[in-house]
Amino acid sequence: MSSALTDLFPHPIVQAPMAGGVSVPRLAAAVSEAGGLGFLAAGYKTADGMYQEIKQIRGLTNRPFGVNLFMPQPDNADPGAVEIYTHQLAGEAAWYETELGDPDSGRDDAYDSKLAVLLDNPVPVVSFHFGIPSRDVLDSLRRAGTFTVVTVTTAEEALAVERAGADAVIAQGVEAGGHQGTHRDIPENDGSGIGVLSLVAQVRETVTLPILAAGGIMRGGQIAAVLAAGASAAQLGTAFLATAESGANAVHKQALTNPLFVRTELTRAFSGRPARGLVNRFMREHGPYAPAAYPQVHHLTSPLRKAAAKAGDAQGMALWAGQGHRMARELPAGQLVEVLAAELDGAKTALSGKGGFR
Ligand SMILES: Cc1cc2nc3c(=O)[nH]c(=O)nc-3n(C[C@H](O)[C@H](O)[C@H](O)COP(=O)(O)O)c2cc1C
Repeated sequence: MSSALTDLFPHPIVQAPMAGGVSVPRLAAAVSEAGGLGFLAAGYKTADGMYQEIKQIRGLTNRPFGVNLFMPQPDNADPGAVEIYTHQLAGEAAWYETELGDPDSGRDDAYDSKLAVLLDNPVPVVSFHFGIPSRDVLDSLRRAGTFTVVTVTTAEEALAVERAGADAVIAQGVEAGGHQGTHRDIPENDGSGIGVLSLVAQVRETVTLPILAAGGIMRGGQIAAVLAAGASAAQLGTAFLATAESGANAVHKQALTNPLFVRTELTRAFSGRPARGLVNRFMREHGPYAPAAYPQVHHLTSPLRKAAAKAGDAQGMALWAGQGHRMARELPAGQLVEVLAAELDGAKTALSGKGGFR
């Protein structure tokens, strides 16, 4: 724990922002209260929806917390491919008795208005997914007293983040649940993701910025491993998705440890960008031909996912989860932070040789 950013929270444990109603204020507040860093996810929300959550968390804790934004996406999706996918999903719409969404419902996720709110009402930390903000944006946030963090999936992306002037990177390994934060979605690179330990080591040798390591981390021993590889803290999503305070749908939570779901895979089926989830019927049927078209496909499938969730149908929902999902523990979030911190201490003792290796 060496940087000013990680000095904000005593345990090197960050609760990943999880859009879609998972990382609600009570979850983020519980993590921050326990000495980790809790995160709100502004993705898919309106600027006002984000602001309301910031007000709520401020009512729950005085500890530092973060807010995560999605970067606006380029207009490079092939409309023909989206059209074909729309036809391919017609049977799903009929099955769930709903319409498909409008793929052209916006590509910027209200980025500018969210930034305006965050500059008027500064928060301790802001992280960015799917690309790098401009130097101006990073400078304005710094002047407002906010630490800035950007997700990377390669050492090259980390170098670009350092050059842009952010305060830290999240090194997101291919094991990670949810969307890969790759800066440019290049379909030819599908399947070439880097594991978190290898990525942290590569990023460590490329930039001097503090690293938060993410992907498949479920136990304190794994946190010790990424710290030893050069990270300053670990960012955990799936582990916190299972906690009592998480806003995840109960079907999603239960699926993490349900033996019916044995594998995760990266898929474009739900959103048009690679994201890791439990393999279910929807992924098996539509993943093989889903186009590279984010967020058009996200908008298109939104009513299907909602209808599946309403029906309690795990086979039609986006069950985002990292590779460690079977190790999820259904604890209160603050307790999970404490357990992870104790496991980390135990692992550090073992690594230093005092406790011997198991
Ligand atoms: C349900 C879910 C939603 C996610 N949503 C976001 C998000 O809104 N913003 C973001 O930066 N990362 C998001 N992620 C990715 C996490 O930041 C992190 O990289 C990932 O959870 C780490 O892997 P793990 O789930 O194996 O711990 C999400 C992950 C999950 C599981």
